[in-house]
Amino acid sequence: PVVLSQAKFVHRDSLKYPFEERGLQFGDGIYEVIRIYHGKYYLLMEHVERLYQSAEAIKLNLPYPKHELIELLDDLLQRNNMTENGKVYLQVTRGSAPRDHVFPQNVTANIYAYISKQERPLEQLKHGVCVITERDIRWEKCYIKSLNLLPNVLAKQTANEKGCYEAILHKDGLVTECSSSNVYLVKNGQIYTHPITENILHGCVRMAVERFSSELNIPFIEKAFTLDDIKTADEMFLTSSTSEVLPIVKVDNIQIADGKPGPISKRLQAAYEKDAL
Ligand code: PDD
Repeated sequence: PVVLSQAKFVHRDSLKYPFEERGLQFGDGIYEVIRIYHGKYYLLMEHVERLYQSAEAIKLNLPYPKHELIELLDDLLQRNNMTENGKVYLQVTRGSAPRDHVFPQNVTANIYAYISKQERPLEQLKHGVCVITERDIRWEKCYIKSLNLLPNVLAKQTANEKGCYEAILHKDGLVTECSSSNVYLVKNGQIYTHPITENILHGCVRMAVERFSSELNIPFIEKAFTLDDIKTADEMFLTSSTSEVLPIVKVDNIQIADGKPGPISKRLQAAYEKDAL
C-alpha cells in the first residue's frame, strides 16, 4: 500500500518515524478520520475545514493550503486503486525536535495519511448497540481533534470490557458525547443533542444529521440531555464517520423503549444512505 508522507507518496513499509517526535512525546498533534464509500471521500470539505480549525487552535502551521491537501488525498486514493469502502487516517504533528515543552523553532509539521478498507457495520446498524455511561474526564477543548485520546481510550476500553460498543460521557449528569462519536436522544418526536461548544467534537456526521433533520422536518434541538432523561427516552442513537447513524438500544443494561431501533433513527439512516452512497 502507498501512504502519504510529507507531500510524498511512499510504500507503507518504508515509512520511518523519528525518535523524538512531538506527536509521540506530547500528543502534540491533530488528526482526522474520513469515510470512503466506493472509492470516494464522504464529507471531505467538512473534515478538511475541521483539520485547519484544530491546527489553528493549537497554533500549528500546516505546510500547505486546503486545496493542495485535498489534491494529495485524492491522489492517495488513486495510487491505492481504492474503489471500495474504507477510511483514511490523516495525522499532523508539530514535528520532530529535541524534547522540550516549548514549541521548537524552524520545524515543519509531520504529516502522514493512509487508507484502509472498512466495511459498513451493517448488523449493528440494523439491530442497534448497547452502551455504558462514564464520567467525562477530558479537558475543556474537546472541539480540537487532538491526538491526546487517553480518556477516550479508557472509556472505550471499559465499554468493551462490559461487552458494549461505546461509552456515553457526562459532566455532572449532563451528556456531552461518546468516546469517539456524538450522541442523541429522541423524545416526543424531537431530537436532542449537546450544543456546539468547546466541550464536544463538532462531528461531521452530526452536521449532516442536522441537515437531514431539517429536510425531514424533525426538530433538532441543541440542548444537552441528562442521564435521567435516558430512562424515559423514546430512541437514542450515535453518529461518527465509521459508525454512521447507529441506534442505541441499551444503556447500562437498561433497555431504551422496546429495545429496537426507533422510527426517527431509521429515517435518518435512510437519509444518510441516500446522501453518502
Ligand atoms: N472519531 N466525537 C469524538 C470524540 C470523536 O472522536 C468523533 C470521531 C466524533 C464524530 O465525528 P465525525 O462525525 O466527524 O466522525 C465525535 C473518529 C471516527 C475516530 O477517532 O476514529
